[in-house]
Amino acid sequence: VRPARRLAGTVTVPGDKSISHRAMLFGAIARGRTEVVGYLEGEDCLGTIAAVRALGVDVTRKAPGHYLVDGAGLDGLAEPEAVVDCGNSGTTARLLLGLLAGQPFCTTLTGDASLRRRPMGRVVEPLGRMGATVLGRRDGSLLPLTVRGARPLRAITHVSPVASAQVKTAVLLAGLWADGPVTVQEPALSRDHTERMLAGFGARLTVSDDAGGGRRVSVTPGPTLRGQHLVVPGDLSSAAFFLVAGAVARDARLRVRGVGINPTRAGLLEALAAMGAGVAVHPAPGAGSEPAADLEVGPARLRGVELAGALIPRLIDEVPVLAVAAALAEGTTRIRDARELRVKESDRIAAVARELGRLGARVTEAPDGLSIEGGRPLRGAVVDSGGDHRMAMALVVAGLVAEGETVVEDTACIATSFPGFVEQLNALAGEPCVETLA
Ligand code: S3P
Repeated sequence: VRPARRLAGTVTVPGDKSISHRAMLFGAIARGRTEVVGYLEGEDCLGTIAAVRALGVDVTRKAPGHYLVDGAGLDGLAEPEAVVDCGNSGTTARLLLGLLAGQPFCTTLTGDASLRRRPMGRVVEPLGRMGATVLGRRDGSLLPLTVRGARPLRAITHVSPVASAQVKTAVLLAGLWADGPVTVQEPALSRDHTERMLAGFGARLTVSDDAGGGRRVSVTPGPTLRGQHLVVPGDLSSAAFFLVAGAVARDARLRVRGVGINPTRAGLLEALAAMGAGVAVHPAPGAGSEPAADLEVGPARLRGVELAGALIPRLIDEVPVLAVAAALAEGTTRIRDARELRVKESDRIAAVARELGRLGARVTEAPDGLSIEGGRPLRGAVVDSGGDHRMAMALVVAGLVAEGETVVEDTACIATSFPGFVEQLNALAGEPCVETLA
């Protein structure tokens, strides 16, 4: 990566990862046809297509990002003949665990080395209380896991200790095969794509938010889900790399079109505004229940901020790239209440501190966050993504503003969520600032 002189133009980022996974999984258990436009064709979401096909669902690719899912209905999934590989994708694994808990057959899930280290107990425990049998390493808390579902499952209320949309979704999906209402209570509001989309498919959901920022969602089993026409907006978590690049570059004016700005996901925009980077939000046609906008950004004098509390789940995936902005801001940025970063595709607290440190930033780790002393120029160096797509892209953005040349090792992982990232960045730069070496 060489420094970019200028970033200018308009780009469209690929479809939202969270929404794509849900469209495929909910379509798979609906009755009739679900048509999805704008589906993310990154490795994670392609893995979810492979998984629902292994469960006997017909999925047809009509055009790039355009799929027809002929749903099996709530009773029509079939036992897979082989182990289902969820690759790098925590969403695939955890949402599937919930769905499989209600199936009267056996499925074994596995994943890559990163996913096999990530905690599954947070979904396995409530699914076990509902009556599913899940066996695997470390008492069923690490992949590979074998699920033998039960029907009906027992109705439970699950008080989740973490604000996790994956946990919330897994338990609610299992609730579709329960003998009564299933409730999930989360300590802070996590992304609510499931609540929006599942209700659209015809599930009976009730949602109540408490004064403390938490949420309770209940699903009452019964109604048949009906196939839907779904348009997936652009992924704000992918747009984040361009927005931060635009804010930190010497000369930039760029626009990202059609990005999902669901408020439970859009903490990045608040964080950037607090840092002094104005992102202009121009409402664009939404995607059903999901609001969307064109986002415009230009260079800014950034200042350090405190990011903590209920804001954290709303920007959790954007912390690596926000850390790059923080390293270039005036003053110190403190990120707290973000212990979850330790169990993402990599330990992102350790990874950000280590790799931005190599570029000359002063970053200290805390158990639940980071402290980043900004204002020191970044110097090109050899850094390593550790196989984590968001670390890889954040480090590329850092390289665009670092002095000299930066080499980011292990970047094939970018394809898990953002195929075309390098090409789009070079198009904005108007020159090949980023070169893929192997
Ligand atoms: C996701 C939820 C979040 C997020 C992940 C996608 C989802 O994870 O970090 O990238 O689609 O539900 P957690 O549920 O573990 O917080």
